Amino acid sequence: MEIAPGIKYIGVNDHQIDLFEGQYEVPNGMAYNSYAVIDEKTAIFDTVDENFVSQWLENIEKALAGKTPDYLIVQHMEPDHSAGIAVFMEKYPSAQIVASAKAFPIIKNFHGTDFADRRIIAAEGTTLSLGGRTLTFITAPMVHWPEVIVTYDDRTKTLFSADAFGKFGALDSDEDWACEARRYYMGIVGKYGAQVQALLKKASALQIETVCPLHGPVLSGDDLAIALEKYDIWSSYRPENEGVTIAYASIYGHTKDAALELAKQLEEKGVKVSCFDLARDDMAEAVEDSFRYDRLVLASSTYNNGLFPFMQTFIHALTERNFQNRTVAFIENGSWAPAAAKNMKALLENSKNLTFAETVVTLRSALSDESRASLAALAYELVK
Ligand code: FEO
Repeated sequence: MEIAPGIKYIGVNDHQIDLFEGQYEVPNGMAYNSYAVIDEKTAIFDTVDENFVSQWLENIEKALAGKTPDYLIVQHMEPDHSAGIAVFMEKYPSAQIVASAKAFPIIKNFHGTDFADRRIIAAEGTTLSLGGRTLTFITAPMVHWPEVIVTYDDRTKTLFSADAFGKFGALDSDEDWACEARRYYMGIVGKYGAQVQALLKKASALQIETVCPLHGPVLSGDDLAIALEKYDIWSSYRPENEGVTIAYASIYGHTKDAALELAKQLEEKGVKVSCFDLARDDMAEAVEDSFRYDRLVLASSTYNNGLFPFMQTFIHALTERNFQNRTVAFIENGSWAPAAAKNMKALLENSKNLTFAETVVTLRSALSDESRASLAALAYELVK
């Protein structure tokens, strides 16, 4: 598949995977993208996951049609993109690796050698001529590991963007880009908003017509414009949409009752609500929507004088991704000593620019007239 003059897709789709990065559900699989740039010299961009190295090597042979690769550009060392390095270097003994200085120690850690006599170090602005085009390397530390580089091809105005602009899902699955790109971004890159902003600033100085990420579809035209706009919103921690995310951690179902009652009241007021059972739903979806919408309600049972563990884990997932700039409200439950609201707020004390709702709903076991009135007051406060 030719993407632009001299650029061919040589990646693979993975429908065998259970959890991406050992934690994320990927119901539509995953794509490990790789690209061949064929000019007077030939460069391969990144390898693939270990289960697909043979297939990828076949893709290279077909794409190159008898040519031999001159360079393996290693933009990112996470194993979903780097597992094939040693096999590739053995198969093509005249090839050189191009990567950042920070990548080579990691190459040695994974593959036992850093290919000291076969390497080119790509620093900020380093260029590499392939004959009819020049590649320029741009550092993108922490998007999403420290060694990451992205690469600009001046002939086709293509940016090879490493993990940036990636998404969950194999390329042969038909699904909305933003939904799975947002869940991917919030889960995997969400902590590094400042670094993504720095990369966007560097990218804005380039004339880019096509983006080739390491996951998800190649982006151009309107799709690329939308992706750039979303990345700016996500990486600056601005809410993307108006709406309320309700995340609950309920032991016997009474805290859940309160959460669903609040959801019903908000929906009756015309508010978009996204509701999650933190013990049963995909927590990555709950994280995604907590960043997507401008208001968040956390509902938890008190447990061992603290929080029901799923809520503890969830709030940690938010704060480690720099959750900020939102309104947050609490619903707590406790049969003899409710302490969940105090504990939830304490976990958010270092988060920037949060507005806490005045109304804190307290249940003492099950919903009562008093707690129903409190929920109504909270619903009113969240929409006013
Ligand atoms: Fe797709 Fe950070 O690896």
